[in-house]
Amino acid sequence: MNFVFKFLIVVLLLQKVYQQTNQILLGNMSSTATFLKTLSSRRTVYSLKPALPAGVTINNIQEVVETVVKQTPTAFNSQPNRAIILTGETHKKVWDAVVKNTPAGDAQKRPASERDTAYGTIIFFSDESITKKLQSDFAFYHDIFPVWAAEASGAAQISTWTALETLGLGANLQHYNAAIEAVLPEKIPKNWKIHSQLCFGSVDQAPAEKTFVENKVEIFN
Ligand SMILES: Cc1cc2nc3c(=O)[nH]c(=O)nc-3n(C[C@H](O)[C@H](O)[C@H](O)COP(=O)(O)O)c2cc1C
Repeated sequence: MNFVFKFLIVVLLLQKVYQQTNQILLGNMSSTATFLKTLSSRRTVYSLKPALPAGVTINNIQEVVETVVKQTPTAFNSQPNRAIILTGETHKKVWDAVVKNTPAGDAQKRPASERDTAYGTIIFFSDESITKKLQSDFAFYHDIFPVWAAEASGAAQISTWTALETLGLGANLQHYNAAIEAVLPEKIPKNWKIHSQLCFGSVDQAPAEKTFVENKVEIFN
């Protein structure tokens, strides 16, 4: 009797451990699947409407950008990433200036479309004073610090782009760096190096299906 009782307790305990392990594994798998699905849903959306989806505010977007910039890993934890959001008249004024600084014809179509159809623009920078200080403090890595700053900016750009997708926004990434820099609000520090512009709005037309190259990741044991 005593033996049967002990045996049952062991069986019950094993069952509990099995259930809990299964739950943890399934839980991890579903959040990984959700993450990968979100990553796969981010696309370049050129066909935008100058509005935010219902329930989304510009402060939601600000929170996304602030969190992404804060949490993106950077070389030596130097945190050179900086960003601003343009919307309303400032967004229009900046893109209008880009149109005027671009040769007439087809080249003007993209900036004109950002001016007229995007709701706003997130501009990504890195603080060059941080990069320069690292170069002087760690001469051995001198040439790689600007590359790492650009990589850390790229990481923040893609994470922001993906997070906007989860808010139901469409976005496309542009590089009108020199033309934009010339007309930025006065307040932007001169030592902020501009990397890119992520133009966003409501999705007017979804992009065409994307094709992929075969890219197998091999495991070497
Ligand atoms: C580093 C980088 C630079 C890019 N530069 C531009 C750009 O200047 N203009 C543009 O329209 N798209 C740009 N794109 C968007 C790519 O063309 C686009 O991501 C690619 O065609 C894949 O399409 P998808 O974004 O729909 O997945 C850039 C993307 C990356 C990652």
